[in-house]
Amino acid sequence: MPPSARLTLDPAFRIGPVDPRLFGSFVEHMGRCVHTGVFEPGHPLADADGFRTDVLELTRELGVTVVRYPGGNFVSNYRWEDGVGPVHERPARLDLAWRSLEGNRFGLNEFMAWAAKAGVESMMALNLGTRGVAEALELVEYANHPGGTALSELRRSHGVDKPHDVRLWCLGNELDGPWQMGHKTAAEYGRLAAETARALKRFDPGLSLVACGSSNSGMPTFGSWEAEVLEATYEMVDYISLHAYYDPTDGDTDSFLASGADMDHMIRSIAATADHVGAKLRSKKKIMLSFDEWNVWYQSRFGGESSLGWTEHPRLIEDTYDVTDAVVVGSLLITLLRNADRVGVACQAQLANVIAPIRTEPGGPAWRQTIFHPFALTARHARGQVLRVEPECALIPTARYGDVPAIWATATHDEATGETTLLAVNRDRNAPCDLEVALPGGMRAVEHLELADDDPSAANSAEAPGRVVPRPGSGARVEGRRASLRLSPSSWNIVRFALASPQE
Ligand code: AHR
Repeated sequence: MPPSARLTLDPAFRIGPVDPRLFGSFVEHMGRCVHTGVFEPGHPLADADGFRTDVLELTRELGVTVVRYPGGNFVSNYRWEDGVGPVHERPARLDLAWRSLEGNRFGLNEFMAWAAKAGVESMMALNLGTRGVAEALELVEYANHPGGTALSELRRSHGVDKPHDVRLWCLGNELDGPWQMGHKTAAEYGRLAAETARALKRFDPGLSLVACGSSNSGMPTFGSWEAEVLEATYEMVDYISLHAYYDPTDGDTDSFLASGADMDHMIRSIAATADHVGAKLRSKKKIMLSFDEWNVWYQSRFGGESSLGWTEHPRLIEDTYDVTDAVVVGSLLITLLRNADRVGVACQAQLANVIAPIRTEPGGPAWRQTIFHPFALTARHARGQVLRVEPECALIPTARYGDVPAIWATATHDEATGETTLLAVNRDRNAPCDLEVALPGGMRAVEHLELADDDPSAANSAEAPGRVVPRPGSGARVEGRRASLRLSPSSWNIVRFALASPQE
């Protein structure tokens, strides 16, 4: 008999609404994310603006809602002015973050035009590395002020009559990291972020601002950085950021499959840190979390910035993802949804080519990596309220995170349609799991899809773009208020239930 597990789906037990901003992505001027990723004038499928229509279509299919831009490490040495105005007058610059050449043929206005075509909200990052309050204010005036001032008229003279009205702004990127241009101490950054936030809120109190949290949970100042930064900025910012990348260090796949446990712990730690600061400051305000960089990234394969030369859009960290990576990505999305009461924004890093669900060849095709599928299905079907789901199941010992539940799950319930969607990962690589689901009465199973494969290292490629796709799972057998189904070993699953018609 395979291991078994039980869980209950009860629409009365809610965590909070699914914020569409949880399905965000990230476009950085890095490698081939912009150039030959989303933007490739001259490509047979490029539109009049030079945007790849195949990538635009895949972006819409992915279900991305918000896209962070223009970095990342790139932003900390970026002059936004270089990327606006007549293209032939734009300067080429050194991108010190990725030791690349930036020709600036794509900038703010191109990004905003692309975002409109993709149907996504934009989330802009400000350079608080090598620049400060003045340049941040200038960018926001250029982007958001209707007209009648030097910078808003400059935008209009660039052919953009209406303001972009960007609502979501990141106050810099990873400034705790010594690799960052303009790296700062928490005290230095906290002060700069506070003064920038104060000025931006004077410009428009309705802007949502994200203060930089730690670059990752392994940073020596993890936790204390957030506390110090929030003490300086608490009443002026809306979010604190989190970043995390996972890979199977030393081939430890069991720990890798448990990455969601680490992400969950990070979220709880930073939420507690924010609440601690709020309590100290006697504030009624709740700071939300912006998990604005997360993904699987095989960092050990990257030779580091110093290994790079001064070339334009080199092939940089173009990780090819396999089935196990897709299961982990699915489990990270489950983790974000499980924390929907606290995480208000999340961006998978990145969108195209650079550790991305979408891969392209210059002049050639675009295709879906394995990790595309759990993202697209979750973004499409996780609607309404997130339900509290606590599976009763076996524990799996892991070297990195201790004992973790074999089944990692969440569910959503959409009152408007009556649909309930269960998302579940079986972390057990060696055995399937028979899952029993307690349901409200009158439900029927609509569909059970899984991402699993006899070869967990299978991947998609330009030659075989459909090698790994979601496949039908065991199906859920519903009898009265119980559904039973089988989860394959090391699998990500989506199971959809709907109200049965009176005849069923
Ligand atoms: O997404 C790649 C890089 O990872 C980003 O530029 C940086 O913010 C992070 O360290």
